Amino acid sequence: MENHEYQAPGPNDLRSPCPALNSLANHGYLPRDGKDITTSRLIETTYKQFNLGKTVGFILAYGAIIDIGKTKITLDELHTSKLNHSMSLTRTDVELNQDFRKVSPELIDSLISEKDETNKLTRNSFARQFIKRRDQSLKDNSAFHGLGFTKKFQVFGEYSLTLNCLSGSENETGISIDVNTLRSFYQLERFPENWKKSEKTISFRQFLKTNRETKKIQENLDKEKTN
Ligand code: HEM
Repeated sequence: MENHEYQAPGPNDLRSPCPALNSLANHGYLPRDGKDITTSRLIETTYKQFNLGKTVGFILAYGAIIDIGKTKITLDELHTSKLNHSMSLTRTDVELNQDFRKVSPELIDSLISEKDETNKLTRNSFARQFIKRRDQSLKDNSAFHGLGFTKKFQVFGEYSLTLNCLSGSENETGISIDVNTLRSFYQLERFPENWKKSEKTISFRQFLKTNRETKKIQENLDKEKTN
């Protein structure tokens, strides 16, 4: 029987900037050492454990593999691939801190401070945190000049994946995520106790819907600021 208990990574285990892939490796759904990972392993595992539709899985997995240029990748190669970007929710910008591989508890607290009165992070919370993180990076990181269209799509895609795949509550899928669930995945990189994946497969259409809705909220908030 395979063991899917949580185990913190050991000194030789490699991890990525992606909280979901790290959680999968910490539970042995992906190799615990973070090495020799193929596209089909990524697609199958994110489908089985998060019910992420295979079209989205395919785009994410091939995006990484093509950029890294190998058929088998190690998780840490994602830190330096083109998929990496500034203004992340869990880690400091590569240019700003030698510890960019480590989760920043301050950044997680800053995201959680955007929760609503029911202790949930909503599309609104992610839109506000986008603005906060973007403005921080623009101020502190002279190498950062804002995100282009594709990177924005990726970043709102990451928020969409969080709301759709990690929320663990059927009626919240795509809408909100409880702060404890978020902290477990984002900070501890661990599946929460009694967490359940979405019963519905997260289609490309659903992924796009949350992506666009959250982006729209951010654009409106930015417009309000300048008026
Ligand atoms: C299937 C293959 C996947 C690949 C290759 C991948 C790759 C990555 C990479 C390279 C980043 C770093 C971007 C940055 O610089 O912040 C990232 C971030 C992220 N990924 Fe994944 N990912 C995959 C699947 C998933 C899944 C299934 C989820 C959710 C269930 C997810 C959720 C996230 C989130 C929320 C972030 C943003 C973290 C932050 O802003 O600090 N990813 N991913």
